[in-house]
Amino acid sequence: MFNKKVIVGITGASGAVYAVSLLRELSKRGFVIDGVCSRLGKEVLQFESGLSESDFPFVNWYESENMFAPIASGSNRSDAMIIVPCSMNTLSSVACGISNNLLQRAALVTLKERRKLVVVPRETPLSVIHIEAMLKLAQASATILPASPGFYKKPQNIQDLTDFITDRIISIITETDTPFTPENSLSQS
Ligand SMILES: Cc1cc2nc3c(=O)[nH]c(=O)nc-3n(C[C@H](O)[C@H](O)[C@H](O)COP(=O)(O)O)c2cc1C
Repeated sequence: MFNKKVIVGITGASGAVYAVSLLRELSKRGFVIDGVCSRLGKEVLQFESGLSESDFPFVNWYESENMFAPIASGSNRSDAMIIVPCSMNTLSSVACGISNNLLQRAALVTLKERRKLVVVPRETPLSVIHIEAMLKLAQASATILPASPGFYKKPQNIQDLTDFITDRIISIITETDTPFTPENSLSQS
């Protein structure tokens, strides 16, 4: 049974709009959200969107230096964690079992407790080092969901593109399908 309690981690990769879209949609759907931004995550969120954690008061935010936060422990109940956008730094650290901040620790806890971890990497092109780190995470049961929206729904604007990724994330963490049909085409909504 899915209890709708999730952790959202925001790193210093480009693509803060994906985090903004996901947080708003999770809130709309009544999820309880714990959040943590890496230091660079806060800076890039501000730089790209002009927003900060305080613009999302419905999220229980924790500082990335706070290893005493509940989400640092496996005894804290949560159903899934999404890292969006995910930098290659964080992706590689988690793949190597390194927890230099709360975000990385929460991701490693999610994996060790065999909960759902969805990683939304944003980098291009990718080196073999990045690809191997993604393989390691996928082998450890994480879902690698690149920030790479499809265009078959005929997106009209950036919101349509971010909605595409948000829908995919939510369908994975809730194990429900959001199949493409003309009725749910973004271009018609
Ligand atoms: C404006 C900006 C955009 C960035 N975009 C990316 C990116 O798309 N992917 C990436 O892996 N790193 C990107 N970086 C670099 C990361 O912020 C950097 O590697 C940082 O150490 C990541 O730290 P974190 O993983 O703790 O958030 C960007 C940095 C800045 C300032």
